Amino acid sequence: MNVLSHRIEEHIAQLSKFTSTPENGVTRVVYSEEDKKAKNYLKKEMKKLSLEVREDELGNIFGTWRGKNSELSQVWTGSHVDAPINGGKYDGVVGVISAIEAIRLLQANNYKPERDIVIVVFVAEEPTKFGVGCLGSRALTGMVTEEEANDWQDENGQTLSDVLQSLGKDFKKIINEQLNPKKVKTFIELHIEQGPVLEEVEKPIGIVNIISAPTEISLTITGEQRHAGSTPMEIRKDPVPAAAEIVLIVEKLTKRMSETSVGTVGHLKLTPSTSNVIAHQVELSIDIRDIKVEKKERIVNQLKVEVEKLIKKRGLTYKWEIKANDIPEKMNNANIELIKHCSESLGLTYHIMHSGAYHDALIMSSKVNTNLIFIPSTKGISHAPEEFTSTYYIAKGIELLGEYFKKITIK
Ligand code: HGY
Ligand code: MN
Ligand code: MN
Repeated sequence: MNVLSHRIEEHIAQLSKFTSTPENGVTRVVYSEEDKKAKNYLKKEMKKLSLEVREDELGNIFGTWRGKNSELSQVWTGSHVDAPINGGKYDGVVGVISAIEAIRLLQANNYKPERDIVIVVFVAEEPTKFGVGCLGSRALTGMVTEEEANDWQDENGQTLSDVLQSLGKDFKKIINEQLNPKKVKTFIELHIEQGPVLEEVEKPIGIVNIISAPTEISLTITGEQRHAGSTPMEIRKDPVPAAAEIVLIVEKLTKRMSETSVGTVGHLKLTPSTSNVIAHQVELSIDIRDIKVEKKERIVNQLKVEVEKLIKKRGLTYKWEIKANDIPEKMNNANIELIKHCSESLGLTYHIMHSGAYHDALIMSSKVNTNLIFIPSTKGISHAPEEFTSTYYIAKGIELLGEYFKKITIK
């Protein structure tokens, strides 16, 4: 095994130790002990390359490799290291370790970039804690308001502001830490594909042209908590069958109204949740995505109409909260051509494709020229313990990233 492969395997092995579910995949929720350990590991690795390392108020990490002229706008790269519940070892991690290893290779060849290259580790790309993904990149691009920071709650009812305060941080300071688009020439993220396409087309590189965007809805249905045995069916106000109907409507609308939309109910919580009680309340998360914003809007609007109607018919009440409502983003075309050129110069075949997952690249793209490159996911599996991407493909991604840095940093 060559040195690079060994280093890749070592990073993956070390980082995957930081999980709260060692027996069942990688669970690394933002601001958890595991998250902190993963970030400390990365800071150490960045310092070994003499990068200037700093952390902002929300916890985003920046590792800067100074170029010849730090007055020039910078090239940013990176991803995240928080993981969903019972997720895999590669989601997000690959983008950060690849940036580190690409810089190591360039340094080993005595290469010095014209302009600074900054590795960013964004916090909370996963929506696990507050129901909204990409908190780190949203805050950096000015997309998180103080009102939202005081509103979004975790499973313990703690708001983002409360959690930051408990860490000795102050959300208000984040307002002054937003990125200055003039100082960032471009952002590039390397990520595992998390889907089956690259395996199907047998290509090692995916070059993303557009990123699908989510509308994240939190729906709470309230009925009447009653005895499961002594309450006749005709007088029940049971929120659970209503939730079941809504799960099927999400599937029906996203299958029927657009060929590129997807819809998922990933979180479903009954309160109370026990076999002989008709539940008082059901909470659902509804995640609707599309690369066509008008189609996504039509699906969400139709869903709202159908929810309103069936809730009324069943004599229930509901709370419909839109947690995030993003627009699909096209990646930078000039850089797509450059990535193609770099791939060809390395003898790497590539596939132009859209991204079904959103990534920090979706958010960064609202402010700076952004690009996203994929490497294959075995069997297309991700957000599961079986997630796997071979060291061979990660090494190819690193090679491509290094080649891209050399070309994109030229004045
Ligand atoms: O859900 C997403 O698209 C990302 O993987 N968190
Ligand atoms: Mn993910
Ligand atoms: Mn990810």
